[in-house]
Amino acid sequence: MKKVVKDIMECKRCSLYKKRILPTVYNGNTKSKIVFIGEAPGKNEDESGTPFCGRAGKILNELLESINLKREDVYVTNIIKCRPPKNRDPKKTEINSCAYFLERELEIIKPEIICPLGRFSSKYILNKYFKKNFEIGEVHGKVFKIDNLRIIPMYHPAFAIYNNKKINILKKDFKKI
Ligand code: URA
Repeated sequence: MKKVVKDIMECKRCSLYKKRILPTVYNGNTKSKIVFIGEAPGKNEDESGTPFCGRAGKILNELLESINLKREDVYVTNIIKCRPPKNRDPKKTEINSCAYFLERELEIIKPEIICPLGRFSSKYILNKYFKKNFEIGEVHGKVFKIDNLRIIPMYHPAFAIYNNKKINILKKDFKKI
């Protein structure tokens, strides 16, 4: 994992490295069998290099607590390691080049449960295993089984920042974990 982190720090696979402060590397427990995959760093994450350390991170913590888990119990990463300018959506080309690191992380962790958070990581992960395009609105909270792996796509925690009712949808989906 140290080598993966070093390679992320030095990455120039796409142009996002030019404008970011720090890339986000993982956060949490490398021995965990539960992996959360977010979208991309925001301002706080860009400054700290830690995924989900800002407002969306607080919601993620609350969701984990609702099922008696802590950040130390799970492995948290992003599909895009560098902040896109002005928090714009990641481009397909950026996702495809950055997923190289996610794949290396998954190879090391060998998770039993993968929870992609939001449409970009959900699309990537479901497409990888099922070669099919799914909409997050249709698949959130559903459990997809592939041998010993369970994939449970979730809405992005930021979904609940401005709407308290939405946290209940997320909490219900988190119970599946
Ligand atoms: N949103 C994400 O998807 N990832 C982060 O690290 C922070 C906010």
